[in-house]
Amino acid sequence: MDDYIYLDNAATTKIKKKVLDSMVPHLESNFGNPSSLYSFGQESRNSIEESREKIAKIINCRPNEIIFTSGGTESDNLAIFGSAYAMKEFGNHIITSSIEHHAVLHACEELEKEGFKVDYLPVDKFGLVSPKDLKNAIKPTTILVSIMMANNEIGTIQDMNNLIKVVREKQNSNNNIILFHSDAVQSLGKMEINVKNMDIDLLSFSAHKINGPKGIGGLFIKRGSPMKPMFFGGGQEKQLRSGTENVASIVGFAEALLLADSERGYFNEKCSKLRDQLTNRILKLIPGSFLNGHPTDRLSNIVNISFDGVEGEPILVGLDFAGIYASSGSACSSGSLDPSHVLIATGLNPRLAVGSIRFSFSPSNSEEEIDYVVKELSKIVKNLREMAT
Ligand SMILES: Cc1ncc(COP(=O)(O)O)c(C=O)c1O
Repeated sequence: MDDYIYLDNAATTKIKKKVLDSMVPHLESNFGNPSSLYSFGQESRNSIEESREKIAKIINCRPNEIIFTSGGTESDNLAIFGSAYAMKEFGNHIITSSIEHHAVLHACEELEKEGFKVDYLPVDKFGLVSPKDLKNAIKPTTILVSIMMANNEIGTIQDMNNLIKVVREKQNSNNNIILFHSDAVQSLGKMEINVKNMDIDLLSFSAHKINGPKGIGGLFIKRGSPMKPMFFGGGQEKQLRSGTENVASIVGFAEALLLADSERGYFNEKCSKLRDQLTNRILKLIPGSFLNGHPTDRLSNIVNISFDGVEGEPILVGLDFAGIYASSGSACSSGSLDPSHVLIATGLNPRLAVGSIRFSFSPSNSEEEIDYVVKELSKIVKNLREMAT
């Protein structure tokens, strides 16, 4: 065992040695600007284009359908603002879900201030969006639908095929274009993603969730999709994302995705085993503990559990003292604990929502670590409950 136990891999992951090694030459010796015309600059350009090809092959798109960004947040923002502005002559209605990451929700809220109309679809108790609700929400003015593939807090995986199908059917009968965007930040590397088969227009991803570097991500933009840039300048990335490219990180991202893709089977097998071991033992040994999210349609590496009568923060502090890193679903804003918008959207009682902890795994975690976590967590929850009475 390391001197700490890292169970927060949905927040970020440790960069892999092979990924780091692939990046170093682009920081040390091959530092040319990819926009420079001499051969030294063109070597950097080639490294970017090779990386784009590698990523495109894995998600089954054309290389020029991928735009590199600074990460998932920027990709979500570009997808939402960029397509809303490009499509505004056709309509002003956007549909998303109430459990999206804030990068999507806050972008939509900003657009509402500018006169766009946004519907935030409800989810069921497992965090699933109903294709029927989506169908009913589509109007002749709808231009964009944004629904995440898998949720970052509870791990629930959406029924993407049916959600996209509903949009395609409605768009054809209404004779208008509706772009479908999905935030795939937590699904990339864990689920098979084939953008062509999915018939999706826009897909966001990020490298640091798959053992790649932080501050690099991408947006798949299906050829022909209307899109306006958010950044203006040198016109890099097909005029859609100006700024000198982060060559080393782009190379690292491609390497990380290649590794994640080749190890996906092992990753899912190992993580789901650890996830189930932790879940079953907590639910059995700690009274008043409840699993959040879908029992089966969920990511292999995320589990979210609520503990009745205790808040998430003191549990996290206790875990930290025991050398265990996890995260809580509640966020501290202006001195008060706000329960997670995701858990509230699933209809969870706010009392249970503020007492939720997310554990997220990597294949480097071990069964021995899980045993230790369950032991420490049982003590922490018991002590906190005793203190509260
Ligand atoms: C679902 C989801 N979308 C977007 C993001 C933001 O990605 P980034 O940290 O690369 O900006 C995250 C990160 O936590 C996420 O989990």
